[in-house]
Amino acid sequence: MTKRIQHWFTLLVSVLMLSFTLSAFASETADNNTTSERLGESAVEGELTGFAGADYWRAVRDGQEGYTTSKSAEHGILISSSGQAWSILKEKWISPLGALAILGCIGLVILAYFTIGPLRLSKQRTGRKIKRWSLIDRTLHWSMAFTFLSLALTGLTLVYGKHLIKPIIPRDIWAMLIYGAKQYHNYVSPLFAVLLFTVMIKWWRKSLFTKVDINWFKKMGGMAGKHKGSHPSADFSNGGEKALFWLLIFGGVFIVFSGFILDFPIFGQTRLDMKLSNLVHILASLMLICGFVFHIYVGLVGIEASLEGMVTGEVDETWAKEHHDIWYEKVKDLPENQPKSESSSTLDDK
Ligand code: HEM
Repeated sequence: MTKRIQHWFTLLVSVLMLSFTLSAFASETADNNTTSERLGESAVEGELTGFAGADYWRAVRDGQEGYTTSKSAEHGILISSSGQAWSILKEKWISPLGALAILGCIGLVILAYFTIGPLRLSKQRTGRKIKRWSLIDRTLHWSMAFTFLSLALTGLTLVYGKHLIKPIIPRDIWAMLIYGAKQYHNYVSPLFAVLLFTVMIKWWRKSLFTKVDINWFKKMGGMAGKHKGSHPSADFSNGGEKALFWLLIFGGVFIVFSGFILDFPIFGQTRLDMKLSNLVHILASLMLICGFVFHIYVGLVGIEASLEGMVTGEVDETWAKEHHDIWYEKVKDLPENQPKSESSSTLDDK
């Protein structure tokens, strides 16, 4: 009996061992098959990619979408095809034409200075002062001017720096400069938006066009040609100043909105949104920079004694009569514009 049990037990163990060995062998063979199949597949894939490499990469370059686990917009697109059009438009057209436009405007004002010359006061100053710009207006103007000009300078460095500055300065200095320009531009630009909004609220009413401005434009502001010195009528602002104001507001709104899209890329903007914003931002900025080349010329040297008003807040009576006659008639009798007697001015000074 014991022998029989021993016999059956040995047989059972042998069968178990045999089946275990067979199954292990079978699974190893299957694994080997899968591995070799995979290797085969990847080899084939490799071959295919190798053979169809150009087509594959052409498809990628043309913006064909692939697969990625990221769910964000356009993450499956490795290369955005419209990016190439954007790059060509920006680097080959807008940048060089923009540089040409700015240099052209600078050239024009230099030419105007030497050919037409500044517009001088036709009569002697009377010495009587007329209040023109309040302290708030002047603070607003100069903050705006500083912010705009510094943003223009850093913006131009971002666009043209790699062509004009990078080749002539050490690499580390260039890295610091371009990083500083980018940071300044990104962080100070919201201040420009605030100032633009404040300027719009404060000065829009006096900048509405009237019939008088048509005549002012017809006579070229009395600044050139046969009309030079004719002093066409104007209210507080003349036609040119009003045009400049609306250029600033409309151009500024485009600059601010496109800049906001570029500065805060956290609202699901697509690459196309960013590229369009970038082009709008550069175009509007270049237009404003060109416009303000003329404004700065006129403010600094083009019209005698204009700057005094924006610096001290007061202008001479002769300047007021010659350049803004309608406004002068409205304000000449105000108490603040009456000539101060010796004694009252001495008291005022104290
Ligand atoms: C060195 C730079 C600048 C100078 C010397 C200058 C000079 C002047 C002067 C003298 C006036 C007063 C004109 C008048 O009393 O009728 C004025 C007005 C004005 N400026 Fe400037 N400016 C400069 C830059 C800027 C910039 C960069 C901006 C805007 C981004 C700007 C915007 C304005 C505006 C909106 C007015 C008011 C025009 C009006 O509606 O009457 N200025 N500027």
